[in-house]
Amino acid sequence: MQLSTHYPQKRAFVTGAASGFGLALCKALARDGWALGLADINDQGLADAASQIEALGGRPLSFILDVSDAEAFQRAAASFIEQAGGVDVVINNAGIGVGGLLEETSLDDWNATISINLMGVVHGCLAFVPPLKRAGSGHVINVASIAAVAAGPYMAAYNTAKAGVLGLSETLYSECKDAGVRVSVVMPSFFKTNIATTSRGNEAARLMTEVLIRRATYSADEVAAYTLAEAARGTLHIIYPRIAKRIWHWKRLLPGHYFRTMLKQARNTARFVERVKKDG
Ligand code: NAI
Repeated sequence: MQLSTHYPQKRAFVTGAASGFGLALCKALARDGWALGLADINDQGLADAASQIEALGGRPLSFILDVSDAEAFQRAAASFIEQAGGVDVVINNAGIGVGGLLEETSLDDWNATISINLMGVVHGCLAFVPPLKRAGSGHVINVASIAAVAAGPYMAAYNTAKAGVLGLSETLYSECKDAGVRVSVVMPSFFKTNIATTSRGNEAARLMTEVLIRRATYSADEVAAYTLAEAARGTLHIIYPRIAKRIWHWKRLLPGHYFRTMLKQARNTARFVERVKKDG
């Protein structure tokens, strides 16, 4: 089943649409002929994305938007709804990476992570949930990460923001259900995108993210296809790939074992970071 079975008017607004997962989601929807509000802070990336979407049969409407700006988000949402004649699906995807020990993460990096990765999603929900509820139909898809439940070491700010996205999405699931609005939260483990290139934090932490992304065996297209298929089924927690699902069950069923493994991971990461610092 495709999302367009539920939403034949095919109108979606996607943040972080210029790269990685957001672009992969837009390309998949474009192949099915959707009108797409492409929102991103990167204007050049946005222009490239719009050409790709058009070539695939989608109908792009571009918005240069910083999701951490609540008022700008409201304006972009209103403009999209006006131009597209409504909205069916909203994907709050824009996000940045940030790594480092708690005490190495600057307040600037904390603020940027919370204001983009968490408040950016809150702003998207504030802008779109009321019109979706009024229409009595629609779907909000928030992009978290398996980090929302598996809070691995050296990623305190990222993990905190993603746990917030999970909490927000689970809250909205029950608040919106009777109004006819579906909610999903996407919780993938690492997959190949450009997130490491814009990652904040110290050089060692950025390099760590780069290594993890380089080693990932899943593409953004695969995660996007799975996400859209599960969203069409109305799944709340969209967890992919299998390793992420294992982590989700592992922490709940065997918490002692899980936390001992996290401790080992923290020690391994500390050794990796020390090596990088020593080798320059
Ligand atoms: P990416 O870096 O390839 O794409 C992120 C997009 O968000 C970029 O186009 C960037 O310009 C945009 N963006 C950044 N800050 C913005 C802002 N303030 N306002 C508007 N747009 C902004 O990264 P990726 O991996 O595609 O990330 C998408 C989402 O997927 C993020 O929320 C990320 O946390 C999540 N995720 C990614 C995983 C991975 O392994 N790549 C794993 C789990 C979750």
